Amino acid sequence: MRKPIIAGNWKMNKNRDEALQFIYNVNQNIPSSEFVESVICAQSIVLRDLVKRQGESLRIGAQNMHYLDNGAYTGEVSAPALENIGVKYVIIGHSERRAYYNETDADVNKKAHQAFLYNLTPIICCGESLEVRESGETNAYVKKQVVAALKGITAKLMKEVVIAYEPIWAIGTGRTATSEMANDTIKEIRNVIRGLYNDEVAEAVRIQYGGSVNPKNIDELLSMSDIDGALVGGASLDSESFLALVRAGVKK
Ligand code: PGA
Repeated sequence: MRKPIIAGNWKMNKNRDEALQFIYNVNQNIPSSEFVESVICAQSIVLRDLVKRQGESLRIGAQNMHYLDNGAYTGEVSAPALENIGVKYVIIGHSERRAYYNETDADVNKKAHQAFLYNLTPIICCGESLEVRESGETNAYVKKQVVAALKGITAKLMKEVVIAYEPIWAIGTGRTATSEMANDTIKEIRNVIRGLYNDEVAEAVRIQYGGSVNPKNIDELLSMSDIDGALVGGASLDSESFLALVRAGVKK
């Protein structure tokens, strides 16, 4: 049995006051981490404050990090610095990072290795553009991303990886993939992992769906066999909405 994982990706939203208000609003009401993993990924500048105030069942994640320990990389954030303040998760290879900051599959792979060196659980993103979807190349495209991202990751570590399948055309557009469509691609990703590792690893890895998930459509998405959670942007910004998403995770 895979434990569902619901992660909010706040992107470049919420200042410190707003972020802390959210945490106060949700802390008492987050369901036990025995049933669902709940994560908020916030801007780097508020991470320390959120970690200090996270409730027992909420964990805090970063939205990106560099793949090196330190050095002359102005504006970057390192994995050791994230570990040092108690961050537990990091989103890697989000399509916005790939599109606006030229992140490549090779960068994603280096970041995945770096995350494990510093006890961070990587949430590795993949997903196709509308053009790729319409040309019928989705499975091949996503397979290439996943194979490249996981290069050299051992079977033991692989069981801890979280993958987020996020079709780019569904992100922030209000256009969700149908639950069948999302499940089919996620099954395909699980098969790729089966091929790279074995059945045990493939059945252990959690694969989230992301792209316009909200409290209205999450139940149906999570009712699918292979969808183990959600990576949620817009609908994670409101505390009541985030709680509704996490509660849906408990029912899975
Ligand atoms: P969205 O974003 O839920 O606002 O579509 C999802 C994501 O980019 O992770």
